[in-house]
Amino acid sequence: MPNDTRSAWLKTLGQLALVLLLALAIGFAIGKPWPVITVAALGVVGWHYWKLRQVLLRLTARQRFTPSAGDSVWNELDRLMFRGQSEMRGRKRRLIDMLRAYRAAAAALPDAIVVVERNSQRIQWFNEAATRLLGLRYPHDLGAALSDRLQPLPVAHWLASGRHAEPLLDTPSPARPDLRLSLRLIPYSDELWLLVARDVSKLMHLEQMRRDFVANVSHELRTPLTVVHGYLDMLDPAEKPDWAPMLTEMQRQSQRMTQLVEDLLMLSRLEAQEALPEEVVSMVPMLTTLKREAEALSQRRHTITIEDTAGVDLWGSTKELHSAFSNLVSNAIRYTPAGGHIKIRFSSERDGGTRLSVEDTGYGIPAAHLPRITERFYRVSTSRSRESGGTGLGLSIVKHVLNLHQARLEIESEVGRGSHFACCFGRERVRARDVNHYSEDHA
Ligand SMILES: Nc1ncnc2c1ncn2[C@@H]1O[C@H](COP(=O)(O)OP(=O)(O)O)[C@@H](O)[C@H]1O
Ligand SMILES: [Mg+2]
Repeated sequence: MPNDTRSAWLKTLGQLALVLLLALAIGFAIGKPWPVITVAALGVVGWHYWKLRQVLLRLTARQRFTPSAGDSVWNELDRLMFRGQSEMRGRKRRLIDMLRAYRAAAAALPDAIVVVERNSQRIQWFNEAATRLLGLRYPHDLGAALSDRLQPLPVAHWLASGRHAEPLLDTPSPARPDLRLSLRLIPYSDELWLLVARDVSKLMHLEQMRRDFVANVSHELRTPLTVVHGYLDMLDPAEKPDWAPMLTEMQRQSQRMTQLVEDLLMLSRLEAQEALPEEVVSMVPMLTTLKREAEALSQRRHTITIEDTAGVDLWGSTKELHSAFSNLVSNAIRYTPAGGHIKIRFSSERDGGTRLSVEDTGYGIPAAHLPRITERFYRVSTSRSRESGGTGLGLSIVKHVLNLHQARLEIESEVGRGSHFACCFGRERVRARDVNHYSEDHA
């Protein structure tokens, strides 16, 4: 017990003893000790009851009170209660201030933040940016179903995938179609999800400018290059033997530059498109063309085999798929020393899809390079790529073409043993092969 409380307690005990002694003295003085003592005791009990009632009233009134002055136990109890109440109020105020500060911080964020109930997918809270970016209105939309409020966006299905939802990277805002948003779903507790939407319009605009710039530069370079290339082709090294090595090198370099410009233009075109014109891609002529091109490039330095066990055709863009496949085939030949074996295989997968794979017995790619191999201009060995006439854009083109076909590129490689590139298509890309069509063609 603290000292103050103990002394108040002792004092009250002393007062009680004093009252009883006084009652005893008066009682004896008037010759009736017991009635006087009884009255005095009842008075003391009554007084304490009255004090107890006051304490109970204060406790139930839930109002702020000032402790009464004095040094009895009841005053001490008052003081203790007052202290407890003040401490609790202080704690509550600090908590409310902290909560307000958090809310203010969340409200001031430039990204839209929406707290969503996980099971019902209803909106619990959102900040000001959610009004600007997503068109949510306060307080009207509190408690509304999120997918109803973000109607034009494909969020219902997205929300259903929950924890595994991939961010929606570039979506038009339901509030302002000129804004582009990137949406992310963050499950932060068992019951609540956080939807974060960021305005990426500027970023997309910059990206668009970069694409346009590359496309324009490539386009502008094309004509002068064609002219230079044309004139160089007209010069016959045999006529000027002294210049022969120089001319050959100039022709080689201008050829390389032309290829680079063509590849850049192709990439820009692929990037600008969200879908390609689609048709049935006849795989028999495709494989024949690939083999012919491979043989032309190989100049009999490699064994080239074609295997077609799938017996189906594909649905997609013949031109783009041809350019993707032929990039893989030309890589296999360029990065395989003479005497190697290149196998082009078109086969079915267990899930109903198909794959076109190109296997070689060439130099292989060190595992550390594999994750970045499809980036633009990424080359394992710049000198080897240059020597072989590569631009470093081939696999980038392959990746883009496959993305536009919702297909995947699988790469396996071992240094010194060879590489295996496979384009894997889903079953929705498979079409039955029209055998009559081929027999008529061949007839
Ligand atoms: N079949 C392969 N065998 C070994 N290395 C390969 C093969 N295919 C691609 N590469 C490596 O990947 C790099 C990128 O390929 P690509 O994008 O086609 O560019 P490049 O124009 O250099 O051929 C190449 O420079 C090469 O180092
Ligand atoms: Mg290449």
